[in-house]
Amino acid sequence: MCELKGRKLVLGVTGGVAAYKAAELVRLLGKAGADVHVVLTEGGARFVTPVTYQALSGNRVWTDLWDARMDNNMAHIDLTRGADAVLIAPATADVIAKLVQGRADDLLTTLSLARECPLLVAPAMNRQMWEHPATQRNVAQLAADGATVLGPAAGDQACGEVGMGRMLEPEELLEHVIAFFQPKLLAGRKVVLTAGPTFEAIDPVRGITNTSSGKMGYALAQACARAGAEVVLVSGPTGLPVPAGARRADVRSALQMRDAVMAALPGADVFIGVAAVADYRPADAAEHKVKKSSADMTLRLTPNPDILAEVAARADAPFCVGFAAESRDLDAYAEGKRRAKRLPMLVGNLVQDGLGSDDNLVILYDDAGRHPLERAPKTVVARRIVEHLAGLLKTAAN
Ligand code: CTP
Repeated sequence: MCELKGRKLVLGVTGGVAAYKAAELVRLLGKAGADVHVVLTEGGARFVTPVTYQALSGNRVWTDLWDARMDNNMAHIDLTRGADAVLIAPATADVIAKLVQGRADDLLTTLSLARECPLLVAPAMNRQMWEHPATQRNVAQLAADGATVLGPAAGDQACGEVGMGRMLEPEELLEHVIAFFQPKLLAGRKVVLTAGPTFEAIDPVRGITNTSSGKMGYALAQACARAGAEVVLVSGPTGLPVPAGARRADVRSALQMRDAVMAALPGADVFIGVAAVADYRPADAAEHKVKKSSADMTLRLTPNPDILAEVAARADAPFCVGFAAESRDLDAYAEGKRRAKRLPMLVGNLVQDGLGSDDNLVILYDDAGRHPLERAPKTVVARRIVEHLAGLLKTAAN
Protein backbone atom coordinates (compact mmCIF):
# COMPACT_ATOMS: atom_id res chain seq x y z
CA MET A 1 0.00 0.00 0.00
CA CYS A 2 2.22 2.83 -1.17
CA GLU A 3 -0.16 4.50 -3.61
CA LEU A 4 0.64 7.94 -2.19
CA LYS A 5 4.41 7.49 -1.93
CA GLY A 6 6.20 10.75 -2.68
CA ARG A 7 3.00 12.81 -2.37
CA LYS A 8 3.04 15.84 -0.10
CA LEU A 9 -0.41 16.70 1.20
CA VAL A 10 -1.57 19.64 3.27
CA LEU A 11 -4.55 18.53 5.36
CA GLY A 12 -6.71 21.36 6.66
CA VAL A 13 -8.92 20.48 9.62
CA THR A 14 -11.70 22.90 10.46
CA GLY A 15 -14.07 23.04 13.41
CA GLY A 16 -16.58 20.27 12.96
CA VAL A 17 -17.24 17.19 15.10
CA ALA A 18 -15.96 15.08 12.20
CA ALA A 19 -12.50 16.42 13.11
CA TYR A 20 -12.14 13.30 15.27
CA LYS A 21 -12.06 11.31 12.03
CA ALA A 22 -9.31 13.52 10.61
CA ALA A 23 -6.81 11.90 12.98
CA GLU A 24 -7.57 8.50 11.46
CA LEU A 25 -7.36 10.05 7.99
CA VAL A 26 -3.84 11.30 8.76
CA ARG A 27 -2.87 7.79 9.83
CA LEU A 28 -4.30 6.22 6.67
CA LEU A 29 -2.73 8.80 4.35
CA GLY A 30 0.62 8.27 6.05
CA LYS A 31 0.28 4.50 5.78
CA ALA A 32 -0.33 4.92 2.05
CA GLY A 33 3.00 6.75 1.82
CA ALA A 34 1.91 10.40 1.88
CA ASP A 35 3.86 13.12 3.66
CA VAL A 36 1.04 14.88 5.54
CA HIS A 37 1.26 18.42 6.91
CA VAL A 38 -1.69 19.32 9.09
CA VAL A 39 -3.07 22.84 9.35
CA LEU A 40 -5.74 23.46 11.98
CA THR A 41 -8.15 26.35 12.15
CA GLU A 42 -8.91 27.72 15.58
CA GLY A 43 -12.14 25.70 15.60
CA GLY A 44 -10.38 22.58 14.35
CA ALA A 45 -7.86 22.75 17.18
CA ARG A 46 -10.69 22.71 19.72
CA PHE A 47 -11.74 19.20 18.72
CA VAL A 48 -8.41 17.37 18.43
CA THR A 49 -5.21 19.01 19.59
CA PRO A 50 -2.07 19.44 17.47
CA VAL A 51 -0.23 16.83 19.55
CA THR A 52 -2.31 14.03 18.06
CA TYR A 53 -1.76 15.13 14.47
CA GLN A 54 1.96 15.67 15.06
CA ALA A 55 2.33 12.16 16.47
CA LEU A 56 0.37 10.62 13.59
CA SER A 57 1.93 12.63 10.75
CA GLY A 58 5.47 12.90 12.07
CA ASN A 59 5.41 16.56 11.01
CA ARG A 60 4.92 19.88 12.79
CA VAL A 61 1.33 21.03 12.94
CA TRP A 62 0.40 24.55 11.90
CA THR A 63 -2.34 26.63 13.43
CA ASP A 64 -1.35 30.26 13.24
CA LEU A 65 -0.83 32.68 10.39
CA TRP A 66 1.80 34.41 12.55
CA ASP A 67 3.69 31.21 13.38
CA ALA A 68 7.38 32.15 13.21
CA ARG A 69 8.77 28.61 12.89
CA MET A 70 9.14 28.87 9.12
CA ASP A 71 12.56 30.50 8.37
CA ASN A 72 11.05 33.21 6.20
CA ASN A 73 7.93 33.44 8.36
CA MET A 74 5.76 32.58 5.39
CA ALA A 75 3.99 29.36 6.33
CA HIS A 76 0.99 30.46 4.28
CA ILE A 77 3.14 30.31 1.13
CA ASP A 78 5.75 27.67 1.88
CA LEU A 79 3.39 24.96 3.14
CA THR A 80 1.79 24.51 -0.25
CA ARG A 81 4.93 24.91 -2.34
CA GLY A 82 5.88 21.40 -3.45
CA ALA A 83 2.54 20.09 -2.18
CA ASP A 84 0.53 17.85 -4.49
CA ALA A 85 -2.81 18.88 -3.01
CA VAL A 86 -4.56 20.66 -0.18
CA LEU A 87 -7.30 18.53 1.35
CA ILE A 88 -9.74 20.14 3.77
CA ALA A 89 -11.49 17.50 5.89
CA PRO A 90 -13.75 18.22 7.58
CA ALA A 91 -14.73 21.43 5.79
CA THR A 92 -17.37 23.46 7.63
CA ALA A 93 -20.02 25.59 5.90
CA ASP A 94 -18.03 28.57 7.13
CA VAL A 95 -14.70 27.60 5.55
CA ILE A 96 -16.45 26.74 2.27
CA ALA A 97 -18.06 30.21 2.26
CA LYS A 98 -14.67 31.80 2.93
CA LEU A 99 -12.97 29.82 0.16
CA VAL A 100 -15.64 30.92 -2.29
CA GLN A 101 -15.24 34.56 -1.31
CA GLY A 102 -11.45 34.36 -1.42
CA ARG A 103 -11.15 35.47 2.17
CA ALA A 104 -7.85 34.97 3.95
CA ASP A 105 -8.24 35.60 7.65
CA ASP A 106 -6.39 32.60 9.02
CA LEU A 107 -3.58 30.28 7.95
CA LEU A 108 -5.77 27.70 6.19
CA THR A 109 -7.81 30.15 4.11
CA THR A 110 -4.69 32.18 3.30
CA LEU A 111 -2.69 29.18 2.09
CA SER A 112 -5.72 27.95 0.15
CA LEU A 113 -5.78 31.27 -1.67
CA ALA A 114 -2.02 31.28 -2.22
CA ARG A 115 -1.73 27.65 -3.37
CA GLU A 116 -0.77 26.44 -6.84
CA CYS A 117 -1.83 22.81 -6.27
CA PRO A 118 -5.33 21.24 -6.47
CA LEU A 119 -7.85 21.67 -3.66
CA LEU A 120 -9.99 18.81 -2.37
CA VAL A 121 -12.78 19.59 0.07
CA ALA A 122 -14.76 17.14 2.22
CA PRO A 123 -17.79 18.99 3.64
CA ALA A 124 -19.20 18.03 7.04
CA MET A 125 -22.15 19.77 8.62
CA ASN A 126 -25.69 19.50 9.90
CA ARG A 127 -28.20 18.59 7.17
CA GLN A 128 -30.02 21.94 7.36
CA MET A 129 -26.75 23.79 6.93
CA TRP A 130 -25.88 21.55 3.98
CA GLU A 131 -29.27 21.99 2.34
CA HIS A 132 -29.33 25.76 2.86
CA PRO A 133 -29.34 27.56 -0.51
CA ALA A 134 -26.31 29.59 0.59
CA THR A 135 -24.25 26.44 1.17
CA GLN A 136 -25.48 24.83 -2.04
CA ARG A 137 -24.56 27.97 -3.95
CA ASN A 138 -21.14 28.06 -2.33
CA VAL A 139 -20.40 24.41 -2.98
CA ALA A 140 -21.41 24.78 -6.63
CA GLN A 141 -19.16 27.82 -6.93
CA LEU A 142 -16.29 26.04 -5.22
CA ALA A 143 -16.54 23.21 -7.74
CA ALA A 144 -16.81 25.73 -10.59
CA ASP A 145 -13.61 27.34 -9.27
CA GLY A 146 -11.85 23.99 -9.78
CA ALA A 147 -12.02 22.37 -6.34
CA THR A 148 -12.92 18.70 -6.04
CA VAL A 149 -15.79 18.23 -3.60
CA LEU A 150 -15.76 14.83 -1.87
CA GLY A 151 -19.12 13.86 -0.42
CA PRO A 152 -20.81 14.49 1.90
CA ALA A 153 -22.74 11.32 2.73
CA ALA A 154 -26.14 10.79 4.30
CA GLY A 155 -26.61 9.19 7.69
CA ASP A 156 -26.70 9.77 11.44
CA GLN A 157 -25.42 13.17 12.49
CA ALA A 158 -23.69 14.22 15.69
CA CYS A 159 -26.64 16.53 16.46
CA GLY A 160 -28.97 13.53 16.53
CA GLU A 161 -30.60 14.31 13.19
CA VAL A 162 -30.40 12.09 10.14
CA GLY A 163 -29.65 13.38 6.67
CA MET A 164 -27.09 14.62 4.18
CA GLY A 165 -23.97 16.28 5.55
CA ARG A 166 -21.83 13.60 7.17
CA MET A 167 -18.21 13.68 6.21
CA LEU A 168 -17.11 10.67 4.15
CA GLU A 169 -15.39 8.02 6.25
CA PRO A 170 -11.57 8.23 6.40
CA GLU A 171 -11.23 5.06 4.28
CA GLU A 172 -13.48 6.59 1.60
CA LEU A 173 -11.52 9.83 1.63
CA LEU A 174 -8.27 7.89 1.29
CA GLU A 175 -9.72 6.09 -1.73
CA HIS A 176 -10.77 9.40 -3.31
CA VAL A 177 -7.33 10.89 -2.75
CA ILE A 178 -5.61 7.87 -4.30
CA ALA A 179 -8.02 7.91 -7.25
CA PHE A 180 -7.49 11.66 -7.68
CA PHE A 181 -3.81 11.10 -8.44
CA GLN A 182 -4.25 8.16 -10.81
CA PRO A 183 -3.93 8.98 -14.50
CA LYS A 184 -7.37 8.60 -16.07
CA LEU A 185 -6.18 6.04 -18.59
CA LEU A 186 -9.62 4.43 -18.96
CA ALA A 187 -11.76 7.59 -18.90
CA GLY A 188 -14.94 7.10 -20.90
CA ARG A 189 -14.49 3.31 -21.06
CA LYS A 190 -16.83 0.70 -19.65
CA VAL A 191 -15.14 -2.36 -18.18
CA VAL A 192 -16.92 -5.58 -17.20
CA LEU A 193 -14.96 -8.02 -15.02
CA THR A 194 -15.57 -11.39 -13.44
CA ALA A 195 -13.90 -12.25 -10.13
CA GLY A 196 -13.83 -14.84 -7.37
CA PRO A 197 -14.82 -18.49 -7.58
CA THR A 198 -18.11 -19.97 -8.71
CA PHE A 199 -20.06 -22.40 -6.58
CA GLU A 200 -21.87 -25.26 -8.29
CA ALA A 201 -24.58 -26.78 -6.12
CA ILE A 202 -24.74 -30.52 -5.51
CA ASP A 203 -27.68 -30.09 -3.16
CA PRO A 204 -28.95 -27.16 -1.02
CA VAL A 205 -25.95 -27.34 1.33
CA ARG A 206 -23.09 -28.77 -0.73
CA GLY A 207 -21.29 -27.82 -3.86
CA ILE A 208 -18.16 -27.78 -5.99
CA THR A 209 -16.00 -24.70 -6.08
CA ASN A 210 -12.55 -23.45 -7.04
CA THR A 211 -9.98 -21.91 -4.73
CA SER A 212 -10.02 -18.18 -5.36
CA SER A 213 -9.91 -15.30 -2.89
CA GLY A 214 -11.17 -12.82 -5.48
CA LYS A 215 -8.43 -10.39 -4.43
CA MET A 216 -6.86 -10.06 -7.89
CA GLY A 217 -10.19 -9.41 -9.62
CA TYR A 218 -11.27 -6.91 -6.97
CA ALA A 219 -7.91 -5.11 -7.13
CA LEU A 220 -8.27 -4.90 -10.89
CA ALA A 221 -11.84 -3.58 -10.64
CA GLN A 222 -10.59 -0.91 -8.25
CA ALA A 223 -7.65 -0.02 -10.52
CA CYS A 224 -10.03 0.33 -13.50
CA ALA A 225 -12.36 2.59 -11.47
CA ARG A 226 -9.43 4.69 -10.30
CA ALA A 227 -8.34 4.99 -13.93
CA GLY A 228 -11.71 6.58 -14.69
CA ALA A 229 -13.63 3.60 -16.13
CA GLU A 230 -17.25 2.71 -15.48
CA VAL A 231 -16.86 -0.68 -13.82
CA VAL A 232 -19.24 -3.62 -13.48
CA LEU A 233 -17.82 -6.39 -11.31
CA VAL A 234 -19.60 -9.73 -11.66
CA SER A 235 -18.49 -11.58 -8.58
CA GLY A 236 -18.77 -15.09 -7.23
CA PRO A 237 -18.89 -15.55 -3.43
CA THR A 238 -15.88 -13.81 -1.82
CA GLY A 239 -16.75 -11.79 1.29
CA LEU A 240 -14.72 -8.84 -0.04
CA PRO A 241 -16.14 -5.28 0.07
CA VAL A 242 -17.33 -3.68 -3.18
CA PRO A 243 -14.42 -1.64 -4.60
CA ALA A 244 -15.14 2.09 -4.56
CA GLY A 245 -16.48 3.29 -7.87
CA ALA A 246 -17.52 -0.17 -9.07
CA ARG A 247 -21.00 -1.63 -9.41
CA ARG A 248 -21.14 -5.25 -8.28
CA ALA A 249 -23.44 -8.00 -9.46
CA ASP A 250 -23.34 -10.93 -7.03
CA VAL A 251 -23.63 -14.44 -8.46
CA ARG A 252 -22.98 -17.97 -7.29
CA SER A 253 -22.84 -20.38 -10.20
CA ALA A 254 -21.12 -20.20 -13.58
CA LEU A 255 -24.51 -20.07 -15.32
CA GLN A 256 -25.53 -17.08 -13.18
CA MET A 257 -22.17 -15.49 -13.88
CA ARG A 258 -22.64 -15.89 -17.61
CA ASP A 259 -26.13 -14.33 -17.44
CA ALA A 260 -24.87 -11.38 -15.39
CA VAL A 261 -21.95 -10.83 -17.77
CA MET A 262 -24.19 -10.90 -20.83
CA ALA A 263 -26.58 -8.44 -19.15
CA ALA A 264 -23.70 -6.06 -18.32
CA LEU A 265 -21.99 -6.33 -21.70
CA PRO A 266 -23.92 -3.79 -23.83
CA GLY A 267 -21.71 -0.73 -24.25
CA ALA A 268 -18.64 -2.43 -22.73
CA ASP A 269 -15.25 -1.57 -24.21
CA VAL A 270 -13.34 -4.17 -22.19
CA PHE A 271 -14.13 -7.56 -20.68
CA ILE A 272 -11.71 -9.06 -18.17
CA GLY A 273 -12.24 -12.64 -17.01
CA VAL A 274 -10.48 -12.99 -13.68
CA ALA A 275 -12.93 -15.44 -12.10
CA ALA A 276 -11.92 -18.99 -11.38
CA VAL A 277 -15.02 -20.39 -13.05
CA ALA A 278 -15.76 -24.04 -12.25
CA ASP A 279 -15.36 -25.91 -15.52
CA TYR A 280 -18.09 -28.40 -14.55
CA ARG A 281 -21.30 -28.47 -12.52
CA PRO A 282 -23.33 -31.37 -11.18
CA ALA A 283 -25.63 -32.52 -13.97
CA ASP A 284 -28.58 -33.02 -11.61
CA ALA A 285 -28.38 -30.87 -8.48
CA ALA A 286 -30.62 -32.44 -5.81
CA GLU A 287 -33.55 -30.37 -4.62
CA HIS A 288 -33.17 -31.71 -1.07
CA LYS A 289 -30.16 -32.55 1.03
CA VAL A 290 -28.56 -35.81 -0.07
CA LYS A 291 -28.44 -38.33 2.77
CA LYS A 292 -25.30 -40.35 3.31
CA SER A 293 -25.15 -44.07 2.75
CA SER A 294 -22.30 -46.55 2.93
CA ALA A 295 -22.38 -47.16 -0.83
CA ASP A 296 -20.07 -45.37 -3.27
CA MET A 297 -21.51 -42.21 -4.70
CA THR A 298 -21.05 -41.03 -8.28
CA LEU A 299 -21.53 -37.42 -9.28
CA ARG A 300 -22.26 -36.81 -12.92
CA LEU A 301 -20.79 -33.53 -14.08
CA THR A 302 -21.63 -31.50 -17.11
CA PRO A 303 -19.42 -28.76 -18.62
CA ASN A 304 -20.09 -25.14 -17.82
CA PRO A 305 -20.04 -22.54 -20.58
CA ASP A 306 -16.68 -20.81 -21.07
CA ILE A 307 -17.78 -17.23 -20.40
CA LEU A 308 -14.63 -15.57 -21.66
CA ALA A 309 -14.54 -17.63 -24.86
CA GLU A 310 -18.22 -16.81 -25.47
CA VAL A 311 -17.69 -13.09 -25.01
CA ALA A 312 -14.55 -13.09 -27.19
CA ALA A 313 -16.38 -14.96 -29.98
CA ARG A 314 -19.18 -12.38 -30.26
CA ALA A 315 -19.32 -10.25 -33.38
CA ASP A 316 -19.47 -7.16 -31.14
CA ALA A 317 -16.81 -8.46 -28.73
CA PRO A 318 -15.16 -5.87 -26.50
CA PHE A 319 -11.41 -5.96 -25.95
CA CYS A 320 -11.01 -9.24 -24.02
CA VAL A 321 -8.44 -9.99 -21.34
CA GLY A 322 -8.07 -13.49 -19.91
CA PHE A 323 -6.31 -14.89 -16.88
CA ALA A 324 -4.54 -18.20 -16.65
CA ALA A 325 -3.43 -19.66 -13.34
CA GLU A 326 -1.24 -22.66 -14.02
CA SER A 327 0.80 -24.97 -11.85
CA ARG A 328 3.52 -25.52 -14.49
CA ASP A 329 4.60 -24.66 -18.07
CA LEU A 330 3.12 -21.18 -17.73
CA ASP A 331 4.30 -19.76 -21.06
CA ALA A 332 2.98 -22.65 -23.12
CA TYR A 333 -0.39 -22.92 -21.38
CA ALA A 334 -0.96 -19.18 -21.15
CA GLU A 335 -0.14 -18.47 -24.77
CA GLY A 336 -2.15 -21.56 -25.77
CA LYS A 337 -5.23 -20.25 -23.95
CA ARG A 338 -4.79 -16.77 -25.37
CA ARG A 339 -4.75 -18.15 -28.91
CA ALA A 340 -7.52 -20.71 -28.36
CA LYS A 341 -9.87 -18.05 -26.94
CA ARG A 342 -8.61 -15.40 -29.42
CA LEU A 343 -7.69 -12.88 -26.74
CA PRO A 344 -5.59 -9.80 -27.46
CA MET A 345 -4.23 -9.95 -23.90
CA LEU A 346 -3.84 -12.54 -21.16
CA VAL A 347 -2.40 -12.38 -17.65
CA GLY A 348 -0.64 -15.55 -16.59
CA ASN A 349 0.68 -16.64 -13.25
CA LEU A 350 1.80 -19.76 -11.47
CA VAL A 351 -0.71 -20.66 -8.74
CA GLN A 352 2.10 -21.07 -6.22
CA ASP A 353 2.99 -17.38 -6.85
CA GLY A 354 -0.35 -15.76 -6.11
CA LEU A 355 -3.17 -17.95 -4.87
CA GLY A 356 -4.81 -16.47 -1.76
CA SER A 357 -1.85 -14.14 -1.20
CA ASP A 358 -1.79 -10.34 -1.24
CA ASP A 359 1.14 -10.40 -3.68
CA ASN A 360 1.31 -11.71 -7.20
CA LEU A 361 3.96 -12.43 -9.81
CA VAL A 362 2.48 -12.32 -13.30
CA ILE A 363 3.45 -12.27 -16.95
CA LEU A 364 1.39 -10.40 -19.53
CA TYR A 365 0.95 -11.99 -22.95
CA ASP A 366 -0.14 -10.14 -26.08
CA ASP A 367 0.54 -10.16 -29.81
CA ALA A 368 3.93 -8.52 -29.20
CA GLY A 369 5.09 -11.31 -26.87
CA ARG A 370 5.52 -11.82 -23.14
CA HIS A 371 5.97 -9.01 -20.63
CA PRO A 372 6.97 -10.15 -17.13
CA LEU A 373 6.01 -7.82 -14.27
CA GLU A 374 7.85 -7.58 -10.98
CA ARG A 375 6.40 -9.34 -7.94
CA ALA A 376 4.24 -6.77 -6.15
CA PRO A 377 1.06 -6.38 -4.09
CA LYS A 378 -2.03 -7.25 -6.13
CA THR A 379 -3.11 -3.59 -6.05
CA VAL A 380 0.14 -2.58 -7.75
CA VAL A 381 0.00 -5.48 -10.21
CA ALA A 382 -3.55 -4.38 -11.03
CA ARG A 383 -2.35 -0.88 -11.83
CA ARG A 384 0.38 -2.23 -14.13
CA ILE A 385 -2.18 -4.41 -15.91
CA VAL A 386 -4.40 -1.33 -16.43
CA GLU A 387 -1.44 0.62 -17.84
CA HIS A 388 -0.64 -2.20 -20.28
CA LEU A 389 -4.30 -2.59 -21.21
CA ALA A 390 -4.71 1.16 -21.80
CA GLY A 391 -1.64 1.08 -24.05
CA LEU A 392 -3.10 -1.75 -26.15
CA LEU A 393 -6.49 0.00 -26.35
CA LYS A 394 -4.78 3.12 -27.61
CA THR A 395 -2.83 1.17 -30.24
CA ALA A 396 -5.99 -0.66 -31.30
CA ALA A 397 -7.79 2.68 -31.74
CA ASN A 398 -5.05 4.09 -34.02
N1 CTP B 1 -13.04 -18.73 -17.91
C1 CTP B 1 -14.36 -18.38 -18.12
N2 CTP B 1 -15.32 -19.34 -18.07
C2 CTP B 1 -14.99 -20.63 -17.82
C3 CTP B 1 -13.65 -20.98 -17.60
C4 CTP B 1 -12.71 -20.01 -17.65
O1 CTP B 1 -14.66 -17.20 -18.36
N3 CTP B 1 -15.96 -21.54 -17.76
C5 CTP B 1 -12.01 -17.69 -18.02
C6 CTP B 1 -11.29 -17.38 -16.72
O2 CTP B 1 -11.93 -16.32 -16.02
C7 CTP B 1 -9.90 -16.99 -17.20
C8 CTP B 1 -9.71 -17.83 -18.41
O3 CTP B 1 -11.01 -18.18 -18.86
O4 CTP B 1 -9.86 -15.65 -17.64
C9 CTP B 1 -8.86 -19.03 -18.21
O5 CTP B 1 -9.47 -19.89 -17.36
P1 CTP B 1 -8.92 -21.39 -17.10
O6 CTP B 1 -9.91 -22.07 -16.22
O7 CTP B 1 -7.53 -21.35 -16.63
O8 CTP B 1 -8.91 -21.96 -18.51
P2 CTP B 1 -9.58 -23.18 -19.07
O9 CTP B 1 -9.82 -22.81 -20.48
O10 CTP B 1 -10.76 -23.59 -18.26
O11 CTP B 1 -8.42 -24.28 -19.00
P3 CTP B 1 -8.03 -25.43 -17.92
O12 CTP B 1 -9.05 -25.42 -16.82
O13 CTP B 1 -8.03 -26.64 -18.73
O14 CTP B 1 -6.65 -25.04 -17.44
